[in-house]
Amino acid sequence: MELRSGKLKEEVLKNIRAQIEAGKGKSLAIFRFGSNPGAKSYEQGLKKTVEQLGIPLRTFHYEKMEDQILEDFHRENTDPTVGGILLLEPIFPQVEGDLKANLDPKKDLDGVTLTNRGALFSGEGAYHIPATPRAALKLLKSYEPDLTGKEVLVINRTTVVGKPLVHLLLKENATVTVCHSKTRDLAGHLKRADIIFTAMGKAHKIGPEDVKDDAIVIDIGLSMKDGKLCGDADYEAFKESQVVTPVPGGVGALTNTLLLESLFKDF
Ligand SMILES: NC(=O)c1ccc[n+]([C@@H]2O[C@H](COP(=O)([O-])OP(=O)(O)OC[C@H]3O[C@@H](n4cnc5c(N)ncnc54)[C@H](OP(=O)(O)O)[C@@H]3O)[C@@H](O)[C@H]2O)c1
Repeated sequence: MELRSGKLKEEVLKNIRAQIEAGKGKSLAIFRFGSNPGAKSYEQGLKKTVEQLGIPLRTFHYEKMEDQILEDFHRENTDPTVGGILLLEPIFPQVEGDLKANLDPKKDLDGVTLTNRGALFSGEGAYHIPATPRAALKLLKSYEPDLTGKEVLVINRTTVVGKPLVHLLLKENATVTVCHSKTRDLAGHLKRADIIFTAMGKAHKIGPEDVKDDAIVIDIGLSMKDGKLCGDADYEAFKESQVVTPVPGGVGALTNTLLLESLFKDF
């Protein structure tokens, strides 16, 4: 069975529109560095949604390292009309530490500052939590609201996906196992899990025969196969009894809207 995010995304968009109509919300500032194609297409996708919604947007793009970066950043970071700042990866190493250390945690929509990460990891309320794991969990909970005691497998250990997801899942009382490229028996872990979050970025690596008959697979991975965007799971091959999120149309589609919704958070 396919678990799509379209309905949830519409609900989030509706909430954003209502807040804009109520006169709430501030500008978004996006910083991009160099010519990374992934960062460029991510920015284009965000821009499209932001423009459709009518959210004021300021974009900053630098081909090479320059003093202007810090000047622009510090101005946006202290401007009270700016509600959120996104620093698209990869960031020039000469400024990465400075930008992340100084980013106002309340404007840190994707939860990259140590303040927000620390608050999430220690179980306290972070201002912002990374949008990708949030979207993945929200999509799962729209189908399976109670995760208490469930065997949940996370295949990814990065700070943007796997690590924050583990903390969100522990809060839900799940029993969490983390796998990565050095894991010896991924096949065994896959067979035991009730729920699988996968973010390897390896096209169609997981098929229905790899998981339990009643497993739920939340696919965060994105990669290209035969010129088409696809996930880690070969979702079209999954049976009726197994639940899987499609790519595209699953986690990725919800991530951007959740990120933008964070602009309207009250503190
Ligand atoms: N849907 C969305 O909104 C969204 C947002 C962000 C990212 N993504 C996608 O999610 C994926 C992960 O992003 P990322 O930035 O975390 O990528 P990444 O840095 O490449 O991390 C991939 C993770 O998967 C693990 N891995 C790779 N191959 C594996 C294998 N054969 N067996 C077990 N584990 C394996 C890696 O293990 P090691 O740690 O040992 O290397 C690592 O932890 C990418 O496909 C990315 O495009 C999607």
